Amino acid sequence: MARRKKIYEGKAKILYEGPEPGTIVQYFKDDATAFNAQKKDVIEGKGVLNNRLSEYFMTGLAQIGVPTHFIKRINMREQLCRSCEIIPLEIIVRNYAAGSMSTRLGIEEGTQLPRPIVEYCYKDDALGDPLVTEEYIAAFGWASQQDMDDILSLALRVNDYLSGVMFAVGIKLVDFKIEVGRVYDGDFQRLIVADEISPDSCRLWDMETGQKLDKDVFRRDLGNLADAYTEVARRLGVLPKNASPITKPTLIN
Ligand code: TMP
Ligand code: ASP
Repeated sequence: MARRKKIYEGKAKILYEGPEPGTIVQYFKDDATAFNAQKKDVIEGKGVLNNRLSEYFMTGLAQIGVPTHFIKRINMREQLCRSCEIIPLEIIVRNYAAGSMSTRLGIEEGTQLPRPIVEYCYKDDALGDPLVTEEYIAAFGWASQQDMDDILSLALRVNDYLSGVMFAVGIKLVDFKIEVGRVYDGDFQRLIVADEISPDSCRLWDMETGQKLDKDVFRRDLGNLADAYTEVARRLGVLPKNASPITKPTLIN
């Protein structure tokens, strides 16, 4: 096979040029990082699970009319996506206090918020993705007012979709992060959900026991990360229901 041109390598994924103009191939690595890559490990099977889970969520979003970059899965670790100009923001939606919000405001983790709260971080690893306000975003031209209206609407639609999907399998969606990108259709431009949606970028708690089924398992040394992601995949039907926690998952096609 001809060697593909690497466009970008991030902490958990590699992007290659796609087979057609306007496409990219997104490769999911097994690397796990936390605290801006100060903590690192390789978790066998994580990339395979996130490839399938992100496919599952992006496909579901498309089915309810939320545009995403996902085109199709190519193999265990790769998916074909539409290329887009990533808006340099991490868009976080929170339903319950946790993580940096709890630290910042002294609210106990797990406290339900009065309504979903959307926050924005400027995407810059060297700065540790600092929290920014809409005033910063407008003043520095990272996104227009129209973009911000569209981003808010996308973020809340993703929140409703993901909360519902997770609720149905006994999981509480505490918070999540998305990224959005700009695509051009002739004279029109619009924003679509890009990057990935996976337990790497969400907080997922079992509704009965409160058990964490997301990257906090790695961040906080709570057990085996692949087992937690396998449990999410199993509940959603992405893995066979009787799948035992495994490091080399057998996935349903
Ligand atoms: P935080 O509480 O650490 O700010 O995280 C909020 C949510 O965003 C949580 O679901 C994890 C996710 N997240 C990422 O996807 N990437 C990141 O770099 C960080 C810091 C958080
Ligand atoms: N993704 C970030 C990192 O690698 C932070 C995190 O998810 O905790 O360091």
